Formats: sequence, structure tokens, C-alpha cells
Amino acid sequence: MPGEPPISPDERLQVEFNRWAEQGRGEEMERHHLDITEKTIRLMNLRPGERVLDLGCGAGWATRLLARLVGEGPQGFGQVVGVDVSDEMIRHARQASKDFDNVMFVWGSAQQIPWEENYFDKVLSVESFYYYADQDRALAELFRVMAPRGRLFILINLYQDNPYSLRWVDELAVPVHARSEAEYLQLLKRHAFEHVEARRIPDETPTPEDYSGKWFKNAAELREFKRIGALLLIASKPDLRTPAPGYTIY
Ligand SMILES: C[S@@+](CC[C@H](N)C(=O)[O-])C[C@H]1O[C@@H](n2cnc3c(N)ncnc32)[C@H](O)[C@@H]1O
Repeated sequence: MPGEPPISPDERLQVEFNRWAEQGRGEEMERHHLDITEKTIRLMNLRPGERVLDLGCGAGWATRLLARLVGEGPQGFGQVVGVDVSDEMIRHARQASKDFDNVMFVWGSAQQIPWEENYFDKVLSVESFYYYADQDRALAELFRVMAPRGRLFILINLYQDNPYSLRWVDELAVPVHARSEAEYLQLLKRHAFEHVEARRIPDETPTPEDYSGKWFKNAAELREFKRIGALLLIASKPDLRTPAPGYTIY
């Protein structure tokens, strides 16, 4: 419409993922992402008392898995914060998490994480990072909110080296990045992360013989996609404290 201000990338993501949330797709994603997320969570080596961020938390099922692992222990009372650009996903996540007293859900963008600096011991982000319009800014924000020696775990199914994921680029209603593993490793190092590594996390759930969805041509493709697996990027923040930001308005 002439005269209307253009919609920002984050607003576009908010509209699209609010639609997903209203269709129940936030909850549905647990079935699709659980196997690879559980394998990732095992690698996170979580301990009671730790502070964890679930970035792009959707309906919050993984946030609750994390919360059970960091709850109460000798190191104190662990806490998990879920952040998502979709306020409707956040609403669903809060609704389903009423029994948890160590979980909090906050509406906000990866590009301006609504939290203080040097806070989180661990960060998990499942199937979300390729949507961030400005991945550089998101990494700068992650670096800021992570504690010194904090550990970052970014799990993505859409990346250049899994050719079966690339058809999603045209099917999704919002723009996405399809970088390669090598590009992501470089990006993390450019943002001063240490101990940067990549792993492949295959999805070992059984594949039905009669696949008829739109994301793959057939069951054989889906099986191959799952065998190649998701890309897990792991990195650490060096042992330094990030100064408080100034008053830059983005
Ligand atoms: C495919 S869903 C995955 C949700 C959840 N992690 C799961 O596995 O069920 C992607 C999620 O990332 C969120 N997201 C996309 N862009 C975002 C951004 N810039 N900042 C925060 N969240 C974002 C979406 O709203 C959506 O909930």
C-alpha cells in the first residue's frame, strides 16, 4: 500500500510464525525435531544450576526438556529462558509451561536479544538460525549475552551440504540462508568464538513408506535427508566479559 512503512524482516518472521503457531505447528515440531534435539542436549552436558537460553524456542517443548536438567542442585537453581520473534509461539509456550518455575518465555528477536550481557552458561537454538535476516548481528548478540566460557549449540536442518534440505528455500514463505558448514565455521570464528566445531546429527526415527508431504519428493529422499543429518555448530565464548552496550538504537 502506498504510504505504508515497509515491513521489517523480523515483522515478516513474526507474521509467518504466528500463523504457524495458530495452526498448531509449534507443538507439531516436537515430533520432527525431538530425535536430533535429544542428541544435542546430551552433548550440552547440562548441570543443575546452569542458566540456559533457548533461542527461537517456538512452542517451548525443548525449553522444558532443558529446564528439567538444570533445575535444582548443589550449584543453585538453574533457569531456562526461551526467546522467540513470534508472540503467538511465546503465548503457546507459556500456556504449556505453567508447572515449571524455572522457565521464562520472552518475546524478542535474535537480532536484539532481550537479556543482559555475560549471563547464559549454555545456549541451544533448534531449527531457527537460518531464518535470521542478519546472522552476523545474531551472533554478536549471542556473544554478548553468553557468560565467559559459555557454550553455544546451533542445530539446523537447512544447510548447503544437505542437498535434500535446499528445496525448502523456495517452499518457505520467508527468506532463509542456505550457507555451508565451512561458511558457518568461518562466521563463528569471525565473531571471536573459540573451539568452533561442526558435527552431523542424523535423525534415526523410522521413515514411513508412503510420504506425501511437500518438503520432499518421496520417502527415499526423506530417508536420505535424515541419514545425512542436521548440522550442529558448537562454539565457546572466550573467558572474557562483554562490556554493557551503549545506547545505540537498532
Ligand atoms: C522451525 S521453528 C523451530 C521452533 C523450535 N525451536 C522447535 O524446534 O520446535 C523456528 C522458530 O524460530 C523463530 N524465529 C525465527 N526468526 C527469529 C528471530 N529473528 N528471532 C527469534 N526467533 C526467531 C520462529 O518464530 C520459530 O518459532
